[in-house]
Amino acid sequence: MNIGIVGATGLVGQTFIKVLEEKKIKFDKIKFLASEKSQGKDIFFNGKKYKVEKLTEESFDDLDVALFSAGGDVSRKFAPIASNKGCIVIDNSSAFRMEKEVPLVVPEVNGRRSLENKGIISNPNCSTIQCMAPLKALDRNFKIKRVVYSTYQAVSGSGNKGIEDMKKGINGEECKFYKKDISYNCLPLIDDLLDNGYSKEEWKMIQETKKILENEDLQVTATCVRVPVWNGHGVSVNIELENSFNLEEIKEVLRKEKNIILTDEIPTPKDISGKDEIMVGRIRRDISTENGVSLWIVADNIRKGAASNAIEILEFLMEEGNLCLKDQE
Ligand SMILES: NC(=O)c1ccc[n+]([C@@H]2O[C@H](COP(=O)([O-])OP(=O)(O)OC[C@H]3O[C@@H](n4cnc5c(N)ncnc54)[C@H](OP(=O)(O)O)[C@@H]3O)[C@@H](O)[C@H]2O)c1
Repeated sequence: MNIGIVGATGLVGQTFIKVLEEKKIKFDKIKFLASEKSQGKDIFFNGKKYKVEKLTEESFDDLDVALFSAGGDVSRKFAPIASNKGCIVIDNSSAFRMEKEVPLVVPEVNGRRSLENKGIISNPNCSTIQCMAPLKALDRNFKIKRVVYSTYQAVSGSGNKGIEDMKKGINGEECKFYKKDISYNCLPLIDDLLDNGYSKEEWKMIQETKKILENEDLQVTATCVRVPVWNGHGVSVNIELENSFNLEEIKEVLRKEKNIILTDEIPTPKDISGKDEIMVGRIRRDISTENGVSLWIVADNIRKGAASNAIEILEFLMEEGNLCLKDQE
């Protein structure tokens, strides 16, 4: 199996490298791809030096799988080229997420959908990913009627540009990327505003949740806010359930999920930064409605929200699909 990392010099790309090393994923050959700007730069992987290559249509000629994290425009242009050449694409951008034939996958929730791929598999939005395992578990046990998301998203969610902008703000310099200064501030608009009043980020969360939970009629709304946190997204999730419950039952259901760390402490982005699990806490009954429950979920947006989720999809394909090392073919 030959792997390519598209966007290897970016925040997510660099984390792909770290997670592949940590998980000791076996492959035959690896290739690091980015824009012309980074061509020839050194990348160290498993103690060995590699050179970054410029992404071209030919980059995929000898690849079996490519992990894409170079933005929507690059994915829109190169993912179909790659998949036409028989290279499976696991894409971190939003380019194909809502396309019917493209599986949108969080492995512990709907991993088997990845086996239905026609060459491209999408990783959901980072804020969506971290909410899926708790919501799926609650839906299975109590049937969800309505979800209200409020996000508190770190600047690393905007990649290197977000981090550089917050540094600038802290140093009293003018910000280049965000519409307003993010330092010591919060911005209640992520991505562009749509005609219906939602931001694109909010709309993604709404649509992706329905697709992953496979319920078009689910009532979902979202407010997405960028906060001056370096890394780790927090999401407040208010849920209305069909069936009655007691809080201990809810905790029991969540405790059984393998990727959830349930805590009575105060879960913060700093607590989860660098980890692949999601942390759930502040669980309480919503007193304003009959079967309502509120919870707070934190996760590392670069790891579980992007790189680790994509590599878990790759592992799923290696275990259950037909991606394997050449000597195992
Ligand atoms: N950050 C997150 O929390 C997060 C979470 C989920 C999904 N994502 C998604 O992942 C993608 C990357 O995000 P990021 O945070 O890693 O951004 P980033 O730090 O800005 O990195 C962008 C990467 O894309 C490469 N790139 C840009 N234009 C290119 C081109 N024309 N051809 C080839 N490579 C090109 C860059 O290479 P150069 O260095 O050569 O410019 C760099 O490696 C985006 O689609 C983003 O929406 C990010």
